[in-house]
Amino acid sequence: MSQNFLIAPSVLSADFSRLGDEVEAIDRAGADWIHLDVMDGHFVPNISFGPPIIKALRPRTKKFFDCHLMIAPVDAYLPAFIDAGCDQLTVHVEAGPHLHRSLQTIKAAGRKAGVTLNPATPETAIEHVLDLVDTVLVMTVNPGFGGQAFISSMLEKIRRIKAMIGGRPIRIEVDGGIGANTAGDVAKAGATVLVAGAAVFKGGTFEAYRSNIEAIRGAATVVRSV
Ligand code: DX5
Ligand code: ZN
Repeated sequence: MSQNFLIAPSVLSADFSRLGDEVEAIDRAGADWIHLDVMDGHFVPNISFGPPIIKALRPRTKKFFDCHLMIAPVDAYLPAFIDAGCDQLTVHVEAGPHLHRSLQTIKAAGRKAGVTLNPATPETAIEHVLDLVDTVLVMTVNPGFGGQAFISSMLEKIRRIKAMIGGRPIRIEVDGGIGANTAGDVAKAGATVLVAGAAVFKGGTFEAYRSNIEAIRGAATVVRSV
């Protein structure tokens, strides 16, 4: 159990001028998943990248592409992200009225399905789609930007979602303000996939990435194994 944490660096904090090299670096540095933050300037107040960039990155690593879609509407774009090589597509509860349909589309394409909630959204919003999802992503900041402070009231939401999930094979992932200082608390609450942008990419070198990833994994693991 203590070895079961997955660290998912968010490339939002990478050097975009050398994005392929950065993805290779975090792969070698110990990343389990590669977290890809897609932002549309509409659902969130920032714009990042879309399917062509993800497709270009795909040959640079064999690691699991964890695609976080902060876009609305989302349904029309799912085929492009599936075609780009995303292994998991995570959609926001708040992105549209047909969440169940979005998740059905992802599962029908043979990809892992994730659902995510903004900090203000109650966990009950996902109650009726749990049987369609592989991952519940709990936003621990308001989505849109890297480097924000962790919202500690989300720990209670993680605990409630863990209880709702019960025995289902669903992972709880957390995203926003995660680092060695917060990893222990989210692990204790029930998260097993930890997204981290600023905390992984600080230092800007392969050696820094490796020690940053180890520090986050170590902080999570210590708590879980106690
Ligand atoms: C926020 C994104 C996050 C972000 C996390 O909208 O979904 O994935 O990159 O960044 P940090 O770890 O720096 O808070
Ligand atoms: Zn994200």
